[in-house]
Amino acid sequence: MTEHTTRPSLVIDNIGSLVTNDPALGAGPLGIIEDASLVIVDGVVEYVGPSGAIADERIDADGACALPGFVDSHTHLVFAGDRAEEFTARMAGQPYDGGGIRTTTDATRSTSSNELDRLVLARLAEAHWAGTTTIEIKSGYGLNVPDEARSLEIAKAHTTETTFLGAHLVPAEFDGRADDYIDLVCSDMLAAAAPNAKWIDAFCETGAFDADQCRAVLEAGRAAGLGLRLHGNQLGPGPGVQLAVECGCASVDHCTYLSVTDIEALAGSETVATFLPAADFSTRQPYADARRAIDAGVTVAIASNCNPGSSYTTSMSFCIAIAVREMKMTIDEAIQAATLGGAAALRRDDIGRLTPGCAGHVTVLKAPSHHHLAYRPGVPLVARTIGPLASFKSRFAHEVPRAGGEQ
Ligand code: NIG
Repeated sequence: MTEHTTRPSLVIDNIGSLVTNDPALGAGPLGIIEDASLVIVDGVVEYVGPSGAIADERIDADGACALPGFVDSHTHLVFAGDRAEEFTARMAGQPYDGGGIRTTTDATRSTSSNELDRLVLARLAEAHWAGTTTIEIKSGYGLNVPDEARSLEIAKAHTTETTFLGAHLVPAEFDGRADDYIDLVCSDMLAAAAPNAKWIDAFCETGAFDADQCRAVLEAGRAAGLGLRLHGNQLGPGPGVQLAVECGCASVDHCTYLSVTDIEALAGSETVATFLPAADFSTRQPYADARRAIDAGVTVAIASNCNPGSSYTTSMSFCIAIAVREMKMTIDEAIQAATLGGAAALRRDDIGRLTPGCAGHVTVLKAPSHHHLAYRPGVPLVARTIGPLASFKSRFAHEVPRAGGEQ
């Protein structure tokens, strides 16, 4: 970079292998530049090119690989408690059916906002150190008006990608009255959630909500100005994928069971298929057939689905390794799904790539190439993460904790 600037600039220099995700800038589908520099000015990529660029501050990548920060487009970070016992029972043969959501709802409702915020911060720190720079956070463990509203308020303090998931499960107090609960979700709960939500989501699955109930939720969300996403086809074949395409959802998430017609519908649509391989790992579901979807032309993403029930991990590297080993994605495809794919699932074109004008969100590895993310599973290969999740702030630090059970 030759131009002098008074704005704060940072160069990451001596990058052995820079994944730009722009084939016009470098080799192969990942647009790899060898022996590279990347300059960020005011948080925005200003330059990518040969090593040796100059800026106010310099980070030496030491010949290692740098890539766009991971875009984790599906998490449920606002929760209290864990469900290790449920996982242990599952490993001994119990099936997963989503019913444990109520256990987490009880724990979350009886935890103060201050404490929930602290828990979210700890999970964000974990994700950040594992290379994630953009994260979507859903509500869905409040399942009443005040607890869904505060879950989103907490989420919004940390990310712009917030999702109202009041239609996660019917709470105990609405047992046998799912339609009444959906009416509440679409009215007072949505009104309380919408100011802090960008997206609306629903769990379309046997045992959760059917297609008509989910359609009602999505249409109410659309009318309130929210973008649409859907959980679908997680535990068996079902109408979720078709509904997501019909409604123009940005993403349908899980997609563990995809029929030929589901794949055809996705391939001709604007809806991203977001795979959540760590959930299939933790619930002992079969892995999604990503190969078939990609070969048919479907846009795909990978996300962590961090939650205490079906996928208690923030590690996108873990998800990449599973996608490569078990879902038959190439390493390049898995890296793109975890970066550009996540960006597409959030309908963003400013993240997931390292090209001039895009966000300067960079993950620097302790490894010479991106292949090591799948080749060395379970190894903490992230040397440094540069991006907004680095500045953890809490709006709730001074709040007086709520009394247990207060709503
Ligand atoms: O995406 N599928 C629904 N929701 C979460 C799981 C929630 C839970 O079990 O607590 C998921 O897998």
